[in-house]
Amino acid sequence: MIVLGAILSLASCTGEKTPVYLDDSKSIEERVEDALQRMTFDEKIAIIHAQSKFSSPGVPRLGIPEVWCSDGPHGIRMELLWDAWRAADWTNDYCTAFPALTCLAASWDREMSAIYGKALGEEARYRNKNVLLGPGLNIYRTPLNGRNFEYLGEDPYLAGKMSVPYIQEVQKVGVAACVKHYALNNQEYRRNDVDVKLSDRALYEIYLPAFKEAVQVGKAWSIMGSYNLYDGQHCCHNKRLLVDILRGEWGFDGAVVSDWGGVHSTEEALNNGLDLEYGTWTNGLTLSEMGLDAYDAYHMAVPLKNYIASGKGDAKLVDEKARNVLRLIFRTTMNRNRPYGSFATDEHAAVSRRIAENGIVLLKNENRVLPIKPESVNNILVVGENADYMMTVGGGSSELKVKKEVSPIEGLRALYGEEKIAYMKGYTQNEDEKLESIEALKCAAAEADAVIFVGGLNKKHFQDCESRDRKEFGLPYGQDAVIEALCEANPRTAVVIISGNAVATPWLDKAPAIVEGWYLGSEAGNALARVLSGEVNPSGKLPFTYYTKLEDCGAHNFGDICYPGLLVNGEYPHFKRLKTDTVRRINLEYKEDIFVGYRWVEKYNIKPAFAFGHGLSYTTFEYTPVSLSRSSMKEGGKIVASLRVKNTGDVAGSEVVQLYIGDDESSVVRPVKELKGFEKVHLEVGESAKVKFEISADDLKFFDEAKHDWVAEKGTFTVYIGASSADIRSTAKFELR
Ligand code: BGC
Repeated sequence: MIVLGAILSLASCTGEKTPVYLDDSKSIEERVEDALQRMTFDEKIAIIHAQSKFSSPGVPRLGIPEVWCSDGPHGIRMELLWDAWRAADWTNDYCTAFPALTCLAASWDREMSAIYGKALGEEARYRNKNVLLGPGLNIYRTPLNGRNFEYLGEDPYLAGKMSVPYIQEVQKVGVAACVKHYALNNQEYRRNDVDVKLSDRALYEIYLPAFKEAVQVGKAWSIMGSYNLYDGQHCCHNKRLLVDILRGEWGFDGAVVSDWGGVHSTEEALNNGLDLEYGTWTNGLTLSEMGLDAYDAYHMAVPLKNYIASGKGDAKLVDEKARNVLRLIFRTTMNRNRPYGSFATDEHAAVSRRIAENGIVLLKNENRVLPIKPESVNNILVVGENADYMMTVGGGSSELKVKKEVSPIEGLRALYGEEKIAYMKGYTQNEDEKLESIEALKCAAAEADAVIFVGGLNKKHFQDCESRDRKEFGLPYGQDAVIEALCEANPRTAVVIISGNAVATPWLDKAPAIVEGWYLGSEAGNALARVLSGEVNPSGKLPFTYYTKLEDCGAHNFGDICYPGLLVNGEYPHFKRLKTDTVRRINLEYKEDIFVGYRWVEKYNIKPAFAFGHGLSYTTFEYTPVSLSRSSMKEGGKIVASLRVKNTGDVAGSEVVQLYIGDDESSVVRPVKELKGFEKVHLEVGESAKVKFEISADDLKFFDEAKHDWVAEKGTFTVYIGASSADIRSTAKFELR
């Protein structure tokens, strides 16, 4: 800012006109071009690679500021050291934690996505970050993926739609969203080595649409390449993904940022569409093998300069990268009109709580075990380590240092009163810790008016954590036995699972009430207590299929080649010391193809524990049969599907009405049906509302590999209106002529 002021005042004393790149009245493109032509080659090289763990240089001579990134995607990460992956121990970086993105997806509420993005953007802005590393848009392919909690579920339509308001609101504050991890980063196990092979249909129909929506509708200003390979090439410099599809087919004009340490080749980075290199392995202080300062040894630093000087590379491509990075800077820090931010405020905590309350999913509720009204109980037994555990810590790069995190036990005590809540840990992750016997738990449970079990996963390695997949689908630490014992001892037992993934539920029939409680952020305990007590009526719906067993998931049906992948020599990769790059490669084939999640279970008539889109309420909703505005349409035409939903219970509530479409007859194999619309409506007792969905030919298309285009075939289509993918309330048919 001081430099900029000096440049401007110098310009005015010398009578020189304000340079175009500093002139707000000019378009960003004009300003970027002007800045670019003033820059030396070295300055261009400087702005396309990092200078610290989370920043890259600007152009100090011209007063163009640095880029500062922050994780992402659930809050603004604590400051880390310049050169090391360690906390910098600042005291002014205690942030608000927002619910994990699975919870946001489970709200099925675009407004929640918007308030999330706005508040998060304001926190980033206050902390002087101009790139927010999120949202994560990878598709939930297997419940073993350790990072599913950072993503928006298994359905490309839902993930895409739910990403847009978040991105737009973050960017309104003048902070770039950086959607990640593009693409096919659907597991953490050996994430740097897996080489994904899949059909073009699966790529275009399942794994790319959310990114496309984020780029074309959300207008994300940056995107992060993923660690894995696709078709033999690392995704941070993958020609097909970055040059052909992202820029060529989608017209992306933002900056492509590498994942931290995801760049492996100067030549490919130059030619295949990467703009900004971060995190390549270095401590930043010592000299590299080449005798260079470590950041100079980055692929897009001195090695790139040398490569261009040798005549092998095209210098125009360096201009292109610098242009994209400048555009990122001009859209953010160089925008003098962008609003100010705010940080860790009560307002942001309230936003966080609202989203949490909207995303919690009531999976099962027999005999109206829930809500547990405060006036109906004198003593509640709370059991489970997760009731008294900080969930914003751990999980990898999304970990947060929070101003506050209300744990479930704190939330329950605050709502019901300390005297009504007794707590027993019940199980522990610590092998050396000795607890009560199961018998003692049962005795205490039998004497309580109600029991609330709070368990699940905990963001430790292998328990929903970056760089490690889960090793098992089941709950860890012997929780199943504890749940069974509690349910046996007290019929008024509610089981709350804290996780970002489905887990095995062998006690499904025995547990009368089950709640999916996600990782809920700063207000976790308050939101949970309000839902359990009935102050808030739950309205979340599952953004993924809750399988009964792992084999019910498509990805776990074709042996190791399909998950977790096999070494190129066909061996299982576990515990191998990998020496050369060729051996390092792990082949991973998405043999389940387009049949991910509900698309798979519906094809094979598998009954999951809970279906995609499922979620109960404390009230009931009645749907009128769907009616269509016309019985046929032509390409280019539209049909409106409408119905009324009525709250027929005795408490106000919100319902997510879902629209799916199936192609009755097709020349290619297609899913039974696919999500093509959803609306969340709030209804008072006895109130009804009309819900309308517009259907166009785009909603009927599949990706035709031979034509490399989207195709809608003439014929009959079925519209399904449901309260979940498995709870279809009515159907109607129409023709595409
Ligand atoms: C993660 C990214 C993250 C980056 C910076 C990487 O390991 O994959 O999601 O944004 O680190 O922390």
